[in-house]
Order: sequence, then structure tokens, then C-alpha cells
Amino acid sequence: MKYNIALLAGDGIGPEITDSAVRVMQAVGKKFGHEFIFTPYDIGGCAIDKYGYPLPEATVEGCLSSDSVLLGAVGGPKWDTLPGDIRPEKALLGIRAAMELFTNLRPAKLYPALKGDCPLREDIVAGGFDIMIVRELTGGIYFGERGMREGKWGLEAYDTEAYSKMEIERIARVALQTAKKRGGKLTSIDKANVLETSRLWRKTVHEVAEEYPEVTVSDMLVDNAAMQLVRNPAQFDVIVTSNMFGDILSDEASQITGSIGMLPSASLGATKRGLYEPIHGSAPDIAGKNIANPIATVLSCAMMLLYSFDLREESECIVSAVDRVLEAGYRTADLAHGKDFLTTTEITEKIIEML
Ligand code: IPM
Ligand code: MN
Repeated sequence: MKYNIALLAGDGIGPEITDSAVRVMQAVGKKFGHEFIFTPYDIGGCAIDKYGYPLPEATVEGCLSSDSVLLGAVGGPKWDTLPGDIRPEKALLGIRAAMELFTNLRPAKLYPALKGDCPLREDIVAGGFDIMIVRELTGGIYFGERGMREGKWGLEAYDTEAYSKMEIERIARVALQTAKKRGGKLTSIDKANVLETSRLWRKTVHEVAEEYPEVTVSDMLVDNAAMQLVRNPAQFDVIVTSNMFGDILSDEASQITGSIGMLPSASLGATKRGLYEPIHGSAPDIAGKNIANPIATVLSCAMMLLYSFDLREESECIVSAVDRVLEAGYRTADLAHGKDFLTTTEITEKIIEML
């Protein structure tokens, strides 16, 4: 089979880590007899430099006519002082919206080989943890009305959080289905003691949950959830939450896995076409040095194989290669604690050898 993948390398370490992932995909293609064709498009700061805006129409069209999309990262200090609507990050929000990717899956699990990297006490993570964060991705405060106005105290800025019942229902359904396939436990995270959107969220999640009697659903306030994630992460199976809470909690979850350089993500909508990217950013401080950890991006490709192409064996082949590279003690700089480490290209070679 031939698969057309739009490649949005982006800024900072984006080109290095996507280059790794493309090489791993090509090796998987060779092994299993598939052709993965990557077509590059500009996004983020590099697009601003070329055209004056972060998300060119050709990029949107390229993504919409592809079978799937791989993204590196966008942004950097060079573009940090631009106005909000032409910042690199705006392109990321734009492409998520244009592709109608309302679901963001962010798995966070503790690799046995990386137990020592987890900042939590040993007894807390003795049994490991394996969490799937289901983050709503095209609604909430990220996409609500915003602006500047004259307020009671003079000039003020505002952003608004709005969630329709429909948006909550569809993300709840994905989360419930995910929980049904996994441990049967769903925690819905909100701030229902303060926010009206959260009260509708909570009510709607429970309504949809009636269709899934096999899933145990509980609610948790987001401040408590932030605490519980470090107190006892093993209590979580699937988490469902809003766009902004999911953004924050997934970074927190990544830290307890040892490194943010390990966490992949899949953004999905109503079709098989998804957008796959590491949850970390463009790390401008280490860009171009060949020391970034490409594993989150490589694992994002494994998610693509599974969710967009239904290639389960191929996906597992990548996941298991990464497992064995870590078991064998190979580490990139972020996980080496000052000891010897492999470069981005070297660890990529190791993963390819293990496929
Ligand atoms: C993420 C990022 C983005 C987000 C930014 C870069 C817009 O932090 O994917 O988690 O907040 O969604
Ligand atoms: Mn984030």
C-alpha cells in the first residue's frame, strides 16, 4: 500500500526529529512492504519568514489531501514578539481547526527502563502507571472570543471559554470508547465548582456515559487532579478534559514519565486522517545540535500507523524497538544525566536496527 503523509517539520528541533521519524517509517515500510511518501509543507516561524504568515493555504490543502500528517514543532524566540494572530502557535491551532481534529490523545506511561528518571518517590511508582489523556482540541478558551476593551479599571484583555453540548458529547464518546477498550475507568476533569462550562461538561459526560455501562466514570476538580497526578498516578486510566486543562495536565504527566521528550500524541477528528506530533515544543536552545530526543516523534508515527492506517503490527514493531533501545541502556541527552549519550541520528539508527 501507498500512504501519502504531509510533513510539517516546523521550527527549532522540528526538522531533526521529523527527519528521524521519517527514517524509521521508511525502514518500517521496507520491512512490511508499504510505501510512505512524505511531502513537506511550511508551517510556523519558517512560514512567517518566507510568506509573512504562519499557515499558508498550500499547507492546509496539502494536509487535507493527505492520508495523514506528521508535525514536528513550531515557534521560537525569534517570533515571540509578533502579534497573536501571526505567531507560529496560531498555525498549530489553525491546522487543528481546519482538519477538525477535536480529539487529542496523549498517552503517558512509565517505561520500566526509565523508572529512575521519574522524579516521584520509588514507592509511588513501584507498580508503574499508564494513563491516556483525552484532551478536547478545537474548543474552549483556545478558540473563544478574545480581545482588548475598556473595562472597569481601564484597558483590559479577555479570553472566553465556551463549550457546546455537542462538543462535549463527541469528546466524551471518544473517551468512553477509549476507556472501554482499556481499563474501563474514566476520570473527567473540570472546575465545576466555579465554571459554568465545567458544569455543562460534567452533566453531559454523565449523560453520554449511560450508553457505556461497562465504564466507571468519576469526576475530579482540576486542582485536585494536578495534585493526584503526582500523589498517585496509578489511580488514572483514561482522563477526559477540556482543551486548556488537557494542555497543562499533559505536560505535568510527561514529567513523571521521566522526560517530555518521550510523549507522542495523536489528534483525530471524524475521519481516519489525523495529525501526529510530539507533545513537546521546538526547544530552540538545542536546535541544530543533533542532541534532541526523537522518540516522542517516532512514537507519534507508531500512533499514526495504528489510528490512521490500521497497521497494528507495524505500529507495535516501532513501540517494541523503542522499548528495546531503552532497555539496552541507550539514552539521548535529556535522559543521560550528564553521562554519555547518543545523538539524535545515533539513537535513530539504534531504533532502526531493533525494528
Ligand atoms: C501543545 C502546545 C500547544 C497547545 C501550543 C504550542 C499552541 O502547548 O500542543 O500542547 O497549547 O496546544
Ligand atoms: Mn502544551
